[in-house]
Amino acid sequence: MLNSDSASGRNVLLLVSGSIAAFKAVALASSLKKAGYCVKTALTENATHFVGPASFEGITGEKTFLQNFDAGSMMAHIHLERWADLILFYPASAESIANLASGSGRNLPAAIFLAHEFKKPFLIAPAMNQAMWKHPALKRNLETMKAYGIEILPPSAGTLACGETGEGRLLEPEEAIRIIQERLEVSDIKNAPLKPRILITAGGTSEPIDEVRHLRNLSSGRTGHHLALSLQNAGYPVTLLQSEYSFAREGIRSLMLFSTTRDFAEKLKHELETNVYDYVVHSAAVADYHVSEVTDSTGRPMKTSGKIQTNVPLVLKLLPNPKIIRELRTWSMNKNLKIISFKLTSDESTDLKLESYDSEWIIHNHLKDVGLDSHKGQIFKKTADHRYLPQSRFRTKAELDASVLKILETNSGETQ
Ligand SMILES: Cc1cc2nc3c(=O)[nH]c(=O)nc-3n(C[C@H](O)[C@H](O)[C@H](O)COP(=O)(O)O)c2cc1C
Repeated sequence: MLNSDSASGRNVLLLVSGSIAAFKAVALASSLKKAGYCVKTALTENATHFVGPASFEGITGEKTFLQNFDAGSMMAHIHLERWADLILFYPASAESIANLASGSGRNLPAAIFLAHEFKKPFLIAPAMNQAMWKHPALKRNLETMKAYGIEILPPSAGTLACGETGEGRLLEPEEAIRIIQERLEVSDIKNAPLKPRILITAGGTSEPIDEVRHLRNLSSGRTGHHLALSLQNAGYPVTLLQSEYSFAREGIRSLMLFSTTRDFAEKLKHELETNVYDYVVHSAAVADYHVSEVTDSTGRPMKTSGKIQTNVPLVLKLLPNPKIIRELRTWSMNKNLKIISFKLTSDESTDLKLESYDSEWIIHNHLKDVGLDSHKGQIFKKTADHRYLPQSRFRTKAELDASVLKILETNSGETQ
């Protein structure tokens, strides 16, 4: 049986082949172990002519793997590849490199390479005579390995074991350990889970009467802006689509402004159609009506280009705006889009009529509870049978931000 992961260290798998430089693998295993890595070794049969499994086992405290068909570790080629955070062939002989490049699984290191899924660093440190190093057959095999995305750690020049001088000396253990450390750090960054991408809308839309006058609501855009800043500071990629009449807009790296409902809808549609977002937090107060016609009291249409003369009574005909929130999923490139929407009420009715919404979460607040410094409310979560159940309450903007952060954290790992 293979041992379980080392709790403290990272897992390094050393593959060793039949080279005069194989003794350096013992030194490397020892240094890695001292540095806190968990080290396992798999040797070619020919490697055992140069170094014994007992040396590795004594140093690493782990069984040394030798054969594809060892009793008790029959699937070692798969298990070892999955166990490792990084695999280093050290030293890699010309023959072993040929085996890997040809896709032959003739011994355990070659079979481990065939089981490699290219999700972690796989490095090869060749060692050989200078003429072998220059050989076109070897060069071709190395090119093949590079084309697979395998990193070659080239040998250095100097006096070789055979007495000749030239390139072929195995990379020294100290240098190898430094590279291992670096590659593991890069691979950690690459494999870090992606944070969900978030589009936040904030502030009120406005509806033109003529070219200078607009009908507007009182939304300040502060809540959406506050939330956008908090999520941005927590490392989430955030875009804020905010009313140009909003009070707060500083500090957001990705900011777009809107004015009318039509402008808002166009920008939102474009953003969702051309970028992948995982969440939309829809806190914008979209006007329910737009001005479809302006007449005088006798029903005569007024000219709305420029500025309407105001010495006569005006009649504004208001028509309902389309419900933009219903379009979000249709517009979104990401068909798994999650929506967090806001609902503001102003009366004392206890029926919030949440069922007409199609959001995963609804943040409900009452007009009297939303002010410059205060913000109280409650978050509801949609159930599988499309009911909304209370999930949490908040008393301040900071508590609201924390609740949304919790939603994102508990529902992450589902990014596209
Ligand atoms: C004393 C001695 C030293 C050797 N050193 C190397 C070497 O440094 N590099 C190499 O590619 N082959 C070297 N060889 C040849 C390999 O051991 C031989 O090609 C062997 O088949 C490699 O098998 P393996 O890759 O499965 O371990 C050496 C052979 C002998 C006898």
